[in-house]
Amino acid sequence: MIRELKKEMPEGFLWGGATAANQIEGGFSEGGKGISVADCYSFDKNLPRENWSDQWHEMTSKQIERALNEGDKHYFPKRTGINFYQNYKEDIRLFAEMGFKCYRMSIAWTRIFPNGDEAEPNQAGLDFYTNVFEELKKYGIEPIVTISHYEMPLALSINYGGWTNRKLIGFFEKYSEVLFKNFGKYVKYWMAFNEINSILKHPFTSAGILEENNQNLKTEVYQAAHHQFVASAAVTKKLREMYPNSKMGCMISYQLPIAYSCNPSDVQAAVDLQRETLFFSDVQVRGEYPAYTARWFDDIGVSLETEDEDWAVLKEGTVDYVSFSYYMTTAVSSEPDKFEKVAGNLLVKGVKNPYLAISDWGWQIDPQGIRVAANQLYDRYQLPILVAENGVGALDKVENGEIHDDYRIEYLNAHLKQLKEAVIDGVDVFGYTAWGCIDIVSASTSQMSKRYGFIYVDLDDEGKGTNRRIKKDSFNWYKDVIKTNGKIID
Ligand code: BG6
Repeated sequence: MIRELKKEMPEGFLWGGATAANQIEGGFSEGGKGISVADCYSFDKNLPRENWSDQWHEMTSKQIERALNEGDKHYFPKRTGINFYQNYKEDIRLFAEMGFKCYRMSIAWTRIFPNGDEAEPNQAGLDFYTNVFEELKKYGIEPIVTISHYEMPLALSINYGGWTNRKLIGFFEKYSEVLFKNFGKYVKYWMAFNEINSILKHPFTSAGILEENNQNLKTEVYQAAHHQFVASAAVTKKLREMYPNSKMGCMISYQLPIAYSCNPSDVQAAVDLQRETLFFSDVQVRGEYPAYTARWFDDIGVSLETEDEDWAVLKEGTVDYVSFSYYMTTAVSSEPDKFEKVAGNLLVKGVKNPYLAISDWGWQIDPQGIRVAANQLYDRYQLPILVAENGVGALDKVENGEIHDDYRIEYLNAHLKQLKEAVIDGVDVFGYTAWGCIDIVSASTSQMSKRYGFIYVDLDDEGKGTNRRIKKDSFNWYKDVIKTNGKIID
């Protein structure tokens, strides 16, 4: 049978936006919240710009100590976010005004289990999210929930060595079960880990691993990833038992690797880099390690400790859908040192692609890449696809109380146009959540001025400002996109 040709976005398409608890909530010392890894990132405007994301790439025990003991001497932007903790009603009302069908959000693990290993959950944290879900329900907005998005309890890192420790599987299972029990009636779509492959890039943020403590970092990182795979599969199985109609997805950061040239060595380098990323979704979709694992682990000197039962758990807990974040493609050369590097692209082999424009933060802009990525993932897995993040971090200017962000509209329109092409290609895409639908603290640089939102938040990089929300021009544009189910995209 040949499937019917689609010319428009599917009916009931989930249009919406995405944020993460650690970048939006604030309320650091409220409601019994514990300290998370995200709360350790400070921002210092006196440092040279190129060093603003250093902590993000490699956190040190010295910086953690500073975060624990000198909280009042430095500024930690993720502790205040945009104060969604207090402001959630107004923010959700604005999402509803745009016509959001869904809202991708995450739960702060430290609001539910402040240190990660307590016997009982923290009721104040559960109450906060119940209120958020009730508010979303009032407007008919479907929540899509990430269980862990870059904010695991710091205590799990300090006391257990983060996800390198197998005990984390049990803590995560317990945490997830509490979420399912309390919020299962509100939430149909879940994802266990945000950008699960990002553990390769920033192991502290993703898995509580301090590089300085590990002799064989590669093995530690893949060991931690193995524990996350098992944990994710175990909770997927649990979710199915508790809520058979709910869905669990995997979520990868997909900076689509493409060969820099037709030199066969560049082609091979691109395939290798693609496997480095898709290894994560391969395991979560297929419930087993891919055929290329043995040779690859041998090449990079990784050996894992696994338990016999892990393999059955992985098989039983495969995901229902595939989601990914898409910001850029990665041009891959077998001789990367001969080329200029790209900012934001942290993969060693990524080089500057001469065909592409760059954002204010040096990220290369490649709208066609989203079509290729969606097609590739669907061809590989034949599972429904969710674009969980996409957007451009830009410097916005307030002029007479207005923000004319035509560059953002242009970026999003170009990407959505290509996503529509993917739908016409036959890809089963069921949702799109624009990243940082309201301005939030940047994950990598901890800046406020790297703005993605349709809604401006009057706060600067040092947290100064009125906290007032202002609709940007893109607010009304996205509202029209949603109202017409994407017909105005051109
Ligand atoms: C993704 C993360 O990698 O990129 C988000 O899931 C993050 O948390 C987003 O905010 C954009 O990155 P940044 O550094 O510009 O905030």
